Amino acid sequence: MRGRLVAGNWKMHGSRATNPALLDAVLAGVAGLAGVECAVCVPFPYLSEASARLAGSKLALGAQTLSEFRSGAYTGEVSAAMLADFGCRFVLVGHSERRGLFGETDAQVAAKFAAAAKAGLTPVLCVGETLAEREGARTEQVVARQLDAVLDLSGAAALAGAVLAYEPVWAIGTGRTASPQQAQDVHAFLRARVAERDAGVAAKLRILYGGSVKPGNAAEIFAMKDVDGGLIGGASLVSEDFLAICKAAVSKG
Ligand code: 13P
Repeated sequence: MRGRLVAGNWKMHGSRATNPALLDAVLAGVAGLAGVECAVCVPFPYLSEASARLAGSKLALGAQTLSEFRSGAYTGEVSAAMLADFGCRFVLVGHSERRGLFGETDAQVAAKFAAAAKAGLTPVLCVGETLAEREGARTEQVVARQLDAVLDLSGAAALAGAVLAYEPVWAIGTGRTASPQQAQDVHAFLRARVAERDAGVAAKLRILYGGSVKPGNAAEIFAMKDVDGGLIGGASLVSEDFLAICKAAVSKG
């Protein structure tokens, strides 16, 4: 059976004043949880402090993006090695806000994925369609294109050490969640797409759903066959909500 994973994505939220209480509350809650892996992806400036707080705990640390370059004259960028240096286990790659607001291309996302994998991080590759793309019946075409860019560059074997996240853009921060069946359909499509290249990797691949996951809807989404957990934005900023979502993943099967 695939292990379950719930990862919080704080996005550009947090402060030195408020992070300790949030992290400590989540740490205390996950300490008693078995059967689900939990992680938080914090903004770069807070990695050091979060790393120290999370050391030796059951809450893994992640970052929200990284540079595709190894090192050098890339002002403002943060490399995979630097994230590993701070004890990051996970890094989000190709989040729709990076693609949509900061112009990250499929090729760039694939290069970032490769850089993360090479540094021993677990890339969480995010894919998802916009509302216009869904309404134009192009969901499968879009997520296939986003996934194939990574498969073509790194090969299916690289996904063995990675996580996939389906995040429909229209469901992110909107309060409008994909229905469990809509999520399941895309997750099954993605798994089948990976299986075309490597059935073994596909069977073990964890595919998370993200987009307005809340304590009230997490269990029904996580109950779907090909949903292996969640990538949580807004609700990861409220410890009770995040922990309730982590618990909903435990109760699956
Ligand atoms: P929300 O949970 O706030 O919709 O955000 C989802 C997301 O983008 C997580 O990466």
